[in-house]
Parts: sequence; C-alpha cells; structure tokens
Amino acid sequence: MDNYVQLLDESFDLAEQALGHDELGSLFFENFFSNYPETKIYFKGTDIAYFGGKKLNIIFVFLKDIIEHPNFAEGHITMEVGRHQMYGLSDREYYFGLVNCLSITLKNVLGSSWSSLYDEAWNDTSMAFKSIVNEAFETYI
Ligand code: HEM
Repeated sequence: MDNYVQLLDESFDLAEQALGHDELGSLFFENFFSNYPETKIYFKGTDIAYFGGKKLNIIFVFLKDIIEHPNFAEGHITMEVGRHQMYGLSDREYYFGLVNCLSITLKNVLGSSWSSLYDEAWNDTSMAFKSIVNEAFETYI
C-alpha cells in the first residue's frame, strides 16, 4: 500500500493529460448518470460542464486521503455521508457506484496504459471507501 497514492495519482494524471481536466470531469459524470439517471435531478442546479472537473478533483482527494490520512478520511467521509442527506442521498449504492465509475472511467481513458498495479490500488482504495460508507450508513443513517 506504500505506493498506492503514487499509483492513484499517476493513473488520474494520465487520464487528465489524455482528455483534459474539464473533459475528464464531464466524461465521469456522463458515465455516472448513464448508470444512475435518477440522480441527475440532484444536480439540476449544477453546471457539470463547468464544475464537473472540480468536483471530480474533490472526490479524488477524499479517496487519496483514505491511504494518506486514514483517520481523517474516515471522519471526513462519514461527515459527507451525513451532510449529503440534505441533497436527498439516502442510498449507499450511489457512493459505491460513484467510486466504481471513477476507476472504470480512468481505465477506459487509459486503454492499454492501464496496468494491474493501478487495478490493485483502485480496488483496495475503493473497498476501503465502501467500508467507511457502510459503517457511516449503519451508524448514522
Ligand atoms: C466520495 C464521495 C463524495 C464526496 C467526497 C462528495 C463531496 C462533495 C462535496 C465536498 C460537496 C460540496 C462542494 C461542492 O459544492 O462541490 C458535494 C456536493 C454535492 N454532492 Fe457529493 N460527494 C460524494 C458523493 C456524492 C454522490 C454519490 C452523490 C450523488 C449521486 C453526490 C451528490 C452531490 C450533490 C447533489 C451535491 C450538491 C450540488 C453540487 O455541489 O453540485 N455526492 N459533494
């Protein structure tokens, strides 16, 4: 796990270089909305073409924190799960879908540059994220 942050960063940077920051954000949300079209309504006030890349960066930093600052990340993600209740988000499946969608989007953009090391870093980080979300839902929601 020592090099996970480096692997996550590398895969994310490569995808940004390939597509551009805003385009990667838009593609990520496009993929997410095609899996969960019912969530579009939550973002009706958000200009995804403009904010998509920024929002994606925020989510990515939360995920990296799981590796770099696990205690902080646990508290922070738990707090976001609680705070997101105000947007009407009471189904943990959306969080799982969101993190899966991110690694799949990067994998698709990278194509043959995707590696089994990226796979491992993303799978383990996603699993840790899901376990924090599960705990948050079971404890607070
Ligand atoms: C890793 C998981 C997530 C993190 C770290 C996260 C983080 C955040 C943060 C920091 C904000 C407020 C800042 C801002 O204005 O951009 C926000 C807003 C919001 N989030 Fe999340 N979020 C996560 C998952 C989700 C999921 C799964 C959904 C819904 C499917 C969602 C829907 C929203 C909505 C609707 C808003 C308010 C509108 C907007 O800011 O565009 N979030 N999120």
